[in-house]
Amino acid sequence: MSEAIRFYDRALSAMSRRQLLNAAWKLGVAAMVQPLASTRTLAQPAFSKYPFTLGVASGDPWPDSVVLWTRLAPDPLDGGGMPADRIEVGWEVARDSAFRTIARKGMTLARPELGHSVHVEVDGLLPNREYWYRFRAGSEISQVGRTKTAPAAGAAVDRLRFAVCGCSHYEAGYFTAYRRIAEEDFDFVFHSGDYIYEDRADGGRNPAVVRQHLGQEIFTLVDYRNRFAQYKSDGDLRAAHASAPFIVSWDDHEVDNDYAADADEHDTPPEVFLLRRAAAYQAYYETMPLRQSALPSGPSMRLYRRLRFGSLIDMSVLDTRQYRSRHACGVLLASDCAAASVPSRTMLGTEQERWLLEQLPNAHATWTVIAQQVPTFARDTVAVNPQGRFSMDKWDGYTASRDRLYTRLKETKASNPIVLSGDVHVHYGADLKLDFRNPSSQTIGVEFTNTSISSGSDGADVSPAWEKIRQDNPHIKYHSARRGYVACTATPASMRADFRVLEKVTMRDLPVTTAGSLVVEAGRPGAITD
Ligand SMILES: [Fe+2]
Repeated sequence: MSEAIRFYDRALSAMSRRQLLNAAWKLGVAAMVQPLASTRTLAQPAFSKYPFTLGVASGDPWPDSVVLWTRLAPDPLDGGGMPADRIEVGWEVARDSAFRTIARKGMTLARPELGHSVHVEVDGLLPNREYWYRFRAGSEISQVGRTKTAPAAGAAVDRLRFAVCGCSHYEAGYFTAYRRIAEEDFDFVFHSGDYIYEDRADGGRNPAVVRQHLGQEIFTLVDYRNRFAQYKSDGDLRAAHASAPFIVSWDDHEVDNDYAADADEHDTPPEVFLLRRAAAYQAYYETMPLRQSALPSGPSMRLYRRLRFGSLIDMSVLDTRQYRSRHACGVLLASDCAAASVPSRTMLGTEQERWLLEQLPNAHATWTVIAQQVPTFARDTVAVNPQGRFSMDKWDGYTASRDRLYTRLKETKASNPIVLSGDVHVHYGADLKLDFRNPSSQTIGVEFTNTSISSGSDGADVSPAWEKIRQDNPHIKYHSARRGYVACTATPASMRADFRVLEKVTMRDLPVTTAGSLVVEAGRPGAITD
């Protein structure tokens, strides 16, 4: 008997014998297995297994509000194990971890349409404060999460600390870096995407793989739900979410490797690929601590948004996957692709680009942070000829879009631009040049690229081609090819990036160390090695 049916047994036991007989008469005995599907709201569900297996999360902190997330899934790896009913879920936000002083509490519904996920936008909170939260369904109580609101609009802020992380391949290594993020109690965490990988189980082909994906490559909503749930089965990942609010964006692997808008890497007809994208986007929404504004509509989901942290940080979160033009020259690496510079090509899409460029002059914080996925700085991945060799999947394949962004930052005198990125599975810290072909051209900001949590397995101190890359890319000021995350400390005077690394991710629970640091001084563009 499935968990869902056991659940029904308990619900049905609450019905009178007359109600049962009436229902059986009207619906037939077979229909009793799924009686009155999706018509009921259960206030006191009885679970035969613990429903909060996926943990808790919070996200998108505002001065008076955060979003709280959980998803009921007593059978997480097999669709969730919930019946097609709405479930009442209570939530509490407290000023202390023991829940002595309750700040806010309420009730929400976990709906079958959204995989019994809940997204509670709690308001009425105080700015720049720590809070603790938990959920209740029936007699079951979730684990406790810690969160923190943003400082008040315009308020002076001495210091904020945040992590930048991404690219956690379940098979490639353990998620120790997520555990170390949890231990730092950051003010927030920016996740730059590749939260899951869509590929099938390795099946023993790669000896470096430490654990296996369940099943084949994922295509359907249930496939994506199960894959997200498998990743959430990792206690280190759940601990990171429970430690601080996450500000998430996605990259390609939440849907399919290297996809561009409606084009995947297998020449699937766009109208077919968009069905897969819709399933993936819905599962992403169901799994992430996102506000209602991100609720998907078919294959569309608005993920770009702005967050403000007092007078210290103005953060624009971008989506460089959903609206981008297809890869220039139809390749991923190109030495001489004139099409990459065609002005009509777009990385952000018309609407998002207009939104971003219009708001940059209104950013009045010390640090103008642009938080996104793929490196914006030119990265000649080893010059095989005088034109270099560039990835068409990054902003190098969309140079007109990059020029428009950098020029806007310059013209509006944006305050201390800091770009965040990930995707390439190595740490970089780079100066952003108006013209990367000319090392003496103006520096308009700095980019911190986080390595992977585990993708690429253990890695090495530097990439094999690093010496050559360094010669061809003098704007790159720091590099490491170990796994880890970037720990950033923002103050009114400086932005510091500590590049945290682990010696191995194929062994559990190793310590994290700082392999190197860069500092940007406010008012002085360019990174300095610390
Ligand atoms: Fe990745």
